[in-house]
Amino acid sequence: MQIRPHKGLTFDDVLLIPRRSSITSRQDVDTATRLTASINLKIPIMSANMDTVTEARMAIAMARAGGIGILHRFMSIEHQAREVKMVKRAQGFIIEHPYNIGPDATIEQARALMDRHKVGALIVMDAGKLVGLVSQRDLMLAPASLGAIRAAMTPRERLVTAKPDVSVDEARELLYKHRIEKLPVLDKDDNLVGLITSRDLIKLNQSPDVTTDEKGRLRVGAAIGVTKGERERVAALLDAGADVLVLDIAHGHADHCIQMVKSVRADFPKAQIIAGNVASREGARELAEAGADAIKVGIGPGSICTTRIVTGFGVPQLTAIMDSAAGVKDAGRDIPLIADGGIRTPGDLVKALAAGAETAMIGGLFAGCDEAPGSPVLRDGKKVKVVRGMASLGATMNRRKAERGEDESAEDQEDWSKVVPEGVEAVVPYRGNVSEILHQLVGGLRSGLSYGGAHNIRELQEKAEFIEITPAGIRESNSHDVDRD
Ligand code: XMP
Repeated sequence: MQIRPHKGLTFDDVLLIPRRSSITSRQDVDTATRLTASINLKIPIMSANMDTVTEARMAIAMARAGGIGILHRFMSIEHQAREVKMVKRAQGFIIEHPYNIGPDATIEQARALMDRHKVGALIVMDAGKLVGLVSQRDLMLAPASLGAIRAAMTPRERLVTAKPDVSVDEARELLYKHRIEKLPVLDKDDNLVGLITSRDLIKLNQSPDVTTDEKGRLRVGAAIGVTKGERERVAALLDAGADVLVLDIAHGHADHCIQMVKSVRADFPKAQIIAGNVASREGARELAEAGADAIKVGIGPGSICTTRIVTGFGVPQLTAIMDSAAGVKDAGRDIPLIADGGIRTPGDLVKALAAGAETAMIGGLFAGCDEAPGSPVLRDGKKVKVVRGMASLGATMNRRKAERGEDESAEDQEDWSKVVPEGVEAVVPYRGNVSEILHQLVGGLRSGLSYGGAHNIRELQEKAEFIEITPAGIRESNSHDVDRD
């Protein structure tokens, strides 16, 4: 048994000492960062793979803002792969598998398909070949007596099309020149490769910071576990287009986690793998040596975590980040760290980055947003949303049902009194659109960079000097001696 000579510190225990700054405007700083060794983000923020935080809608909002969302894994493999596809389809420069219909389908069937998938047009395919395109406008006034789609569609010979190597600018020009909204993409043998829509090009234009892959589609991550069936999950997620896998288990410095990193690395050499969670120098080193592309740090700092109370284990988050940074160096690898859990304010984010993380994963703070799963409810006259730890009783029940292929409403089959939860279920205030919280977080980060005399996150880390503060210092840091609403 031994006790470390140094105290473990977390965000509230320290402040950063202001540095001389040449920055005159918050716009002079760059918030870009690395998610993994080969994926970059414009803002250092990820939404957590929790079932009350990230499904497709949150992931879409995060990627559009320049961050990324990690889809939780407490659902069937098919369901999670479908969520990946929803994000991938939300905005692409070329939609790879556009919804299609046969020429003999009825007008009613076409309308129903468009409504179900909320799209404005369908590709018309016959025997694997493009034969036309039908839009909602074509059908708007079409009488049912018109019969089949063939009669309402714009036929192939009148369609303007593009080649697979078309650039964004060329596509925009074609759409504008012909005053059309859809541009089918065909290869030299006239096979359909995809569809470009004016709506997607407009979205691309509006958000230059958006996190996209090489095809202009939004990037998304997906969580995986370490149990036997997970290899199948990995294959399905990668096939659906997931950009990064987050091997997420409570205690990542464990034989089965290290083994899983190695086997995913070996079986899927191109996959980007984030592994965690760890909170020690050795843990980070071993996951880095196993081949992870980024390491996730945090044992017990999360808003809904009770791991430290239930098990007695954990490391205050600031120290955990600093120790893990040293561990990655020990492994001789230049891969980024992710600070996972405990971020409540923009200041916490700045401290996490200054301590050595390149991104932060956030759960509770986003759970109250519109984009998080679930609807707000009224409690004591206030609008709130539910958040739950992934090791809470409710989430554990849900996970085991998902593993048996059942949905959340299925009847209980287990004696739940045998479960030892390491997380709680709670509510957080309803917080509206996630873009508002991101605006505050990124605004605080920009100011933080300027106080640190840093033009970017790397410089912030190089120049950072923390000072440990006392409870009086913490009191002084918050607004005090005034009446607040
Ligand atoms: P915040 O503070 O942003 O933290 O809400 C989110 C992170 O908390 C972790 N997490 C858990 N940790 N028991 C735990 O000990 C749990 O039930 C639990 N659920 C989530 C996770 O790392 C998440 O990203």
